[in-house]
Amino acid sequence: MPDFDLVIRNARAVTASDLFDCDIGVKDGRIVQLGQGLAAGAREIDAAGRHVTPGGVDAHCHLDQPEPPPIRMADGFDSGTRSAACGGTTTVIPFALQQKGQSLRDAVADYHRRADGQAHVDYAFHLIVSDPTPTVLGEELPALIREGYTSFKIYMTYDSLKLDDGQILDVLAVAREHGAMAMVHAENAECIEWLSRRLEAAGRTAPRYHAHARPMLVEREATHRAIALSELVDVPILIVHVSGQEAVEQIRWARAHGLHVFAETCPQYLFLTAEDLGIDDSYEGARCVCSPPPRGRENQQVIWRGLADGLFTIFSSDHAPYRFEGGEGKHPGGEERPFRHIPNGIPGLETRMALLWSEGVMAGRITPNKFVELTATNPAKAYGLHPRKGSLSVGADADLVVWDEREFVLRNTMLHHDVDYTPYEGMHLSAWPAVTLSRGEVVWDGAAFRGTRGAGRFLRCGQPTLLPRRRG
Ligand code: URP
Ligand code: ZN
Ligand code: ZN
Repeated sequence: MPDFDLVIRNARAVTASDLFDCDIGVKDGRIVQLGQGLAAGAREIDAAGRHVTPGGVDAHCHLDQPEPPPIRMADGFDSGTRSAACGGTTTVIPFALQQKGQSLRDAVADYHRRADGQAHVDYAFHLIVSDPTPTVLGEELPALIREGYTSFKIYMTYDSLKLDDGQILDVLAVAREHGAMAMVHAENAECIEWLSRRLEAAGRTAPRYHAHARPMLVEREATHRAIALSELVDVPILIVHVSGQEAVEQIRWARAHGLHVFAETCPQYLFLTAEDLGIDDSYEGARCVCSPPPRGRENQQVIWRGLADGLFTIFSSDHAPYRFEGGEGKHPGGEERPFRHIPNGIPGLETRMALLWSEGVMAGRITPNKFVELTATNPAKAYGLHPRKGSLSVGADADLVVWDEREFVLRNTMLHHDVDYTPYEGMHLSAWPAVTLSRGEVVWDGAAFRGTRGAGRFLRCGQPTLLPRRRG
């Protein structure tokens, strides 16, 4: 009987801190030994000096979220996690969204129904708290945190989701008391509304005006306010999808003042610019309408710097999948609509890891260790999944990526999501996963998807471990 179910031989193993040559022994879905010259496995993969990293933890993606008809998210747990696996992501954390007037528990139960039996890789849930009633604050949210839903997102914009400052203070106080991680979408709703009305009145309704309605200032102001509110409550926060220099400056200021403000950014702020929303009034740019919007080219360097120097804790996709053609996505009801009515979000679950390995590690902008920290280890720590996830160590789940460093041109036809475009069509990349393993099983073999629907398990999250546990 072989010692291992699987041995990956001759790996250049990369962790958030180390890089070493070893064989990786896997049994019962876990890494059980790291060493040289390991005994035979029932199956073997020769990594032949290739980099092997922990599978990605995509801590910000939207799958099968309820939408007002006729809008529908293109990916649910089946196609979304299939696409994740083929791109080297082995854990996803999408959002159980509470609609205003809905109980948080019902939102979670509904989201489980959407996920049950569908996923190809493991998944946990963040909550979205849009209606912090006394019952939610006093009963549902604390109980759900205890049951393994230890993070929630709050919005400072979008009419159907936004909280006012008093409500934000209330939910932050629950995060503090029960040790949850609060994620904040920081854009000033009133400014966006005012600018949008003026643009519309002037006939400026093309997709590119989405970026005019959400300048960096509105992100800067909300980021500053979120930081102040978290300081008042004395609780860490994580600002999601940080897009621009002005928000980055606020976060640097907070850090310099000793505040625990974490930050996430996403591929769209490295690889897209506001011009991708259109340089004229064509509707093509609707594909890249997302919030906050991509900024100017010089801003991409600000985001790269923040990834390299530790300003950013997490690199997520913010995959929010809507089809361009048809009436369920970027053409609501089949029409070209004013920018205000275009569903916000772009696909990116499958491309996140390769974009950062290729243009970050291979291009010499970040180290392989930083890549692992941003894409796997830190998201697992931030949301209480570490060291089971996000770690290449003995005892961790054998969620691994063997990298193939080769040149190719990215096409949407190569991808496995149910979206009819990728914003990165035609990009020249120099890496893609050769193999993705989910708990020791091959789910992507470099040519084909090999996963099994329903094999992905729901994960209950523990408390965040990015910071030492506080006493009392
Ligand atoms: O435009 C975006 N980012 N859509 C997804 C929802 C969100 O706010 O993250
Ligand atoms: Zn958001
Ligand atoms: Zn999002």
